[in-house]
Amino acid sequence: MYFPEYRLRRLRRTENLRRMVRETRLSVDDLIYPLFVVPGSGVKEPIASMPGQYHFSVDKLVEEAAAARDLGLPAVLLFGLPETKDEFGSSGSEPDGIVQRAVKALKSSLEDIVVITDVCLCEYTSHGHCGVLENGRVDNDLTLEHLARQALSHVEAGADMVAPSDMMDGRVAEIRDVLDEEGHTHVPIMSYAAKFASSFYGPFREAAQSTPSFGDRRDYQMDPANVLEALREVTLDIEEGADIVMVKPALPFLDVIAKVREKFDYPLAAYNVSGEYAMIKAAAEKGWLDERRAVLEVLTGIKRAGADLIITYFAPQAARWLKE
Ligand code: PBG
Repeated sequence: MYFPEYRLRRLRRTENLRRMVRETRLSVDDLIYPLFVVPGSGVKEPIASMPGQYHFSVDKLVEEAAAARDLGLPAVLLFGLPETKDEFGSSGSEPDGIVQRAVKALKSSLEDIVVITDVCLCEYTSHGHCGVLENGRVDNDLTLEHLARQALSHVEAGADMVAPSDMMDGRVAEIRDVLDEEGHTHVPIMSYAAKFASSFYGPFREAAQSTPSFGDRRDYQMDPANVLEALREVTLDIEEGADIVMVKPALPFLDVIAKVREKFDYPLAAYNVSGEYAMIKAAAEKGWLDERRAVLEVLTGIKRAGADLIITYFAPQAARWLKE
């Protein structure tokens, strides 16, 4: 049947009608809240490049995570800014490192929130690259043991899940092996499987103080032009033992999310990254778009593309809006 007998506008006339035929439902259950933890106490310092986001000391982080839990958010993802950095990113795997202290504090005061840790060397290396250098390049195989050591130290501190974001080949298998050998067979890995070398990480690098001191990350993160390769990345990470796979960033890669969804029956996460956050914040500040509508439209779009989970700095705001 065609127009004029059939009219699509019939089911758009009222909010209740629209509600009845809505195909995608965003839920607080889908959202993961990324947080930055810094040394000190009583610190809640605004991050200039990400309005509404903060550097939290461990005590303030616990308060923020408790508030997130009270909004119904199921999980947080932790990034640490350490006291010291060296060539090998050693401070990332110290038992009393910044993330390890944060995990312990969160797990001892809020058992019911899932604590995920980002596993990568870039926040802990003096050169800001995601791995160990050999002749001026990031050496894949030398990096693996450092990543596995960091992941293990997070889990020993009590992390519920680890999320390697470095893009070294073979790191999921290495982390899985070490966790299993040490008796942590129940701890899942969420791998940043298809992570692209994106300009949209700009605000994060300011927040995490992890800008590479030379060169860029195109030698290990993916070329934004590639989707077939993204599927190969996902295949390998699943074969190596990833429990959840991720596509990152989200908005410029919705087609990648859709293809991964179509091809794999594994839980799929998408990272709505710092640049995607900052764009909306900046435009909303100028009064150029309605923040609430823009955020819910973006998050719904990411879910419609096929993501089960969305890592987003908008998580608490969205949780509040979804409750109303
Ligand atoms: C660390 C890491 C990055 C992000 C998450 N983990 C930065 C990068 O790869 O340079 C980016 C997150 C964001 O932009 O919100 N490797």
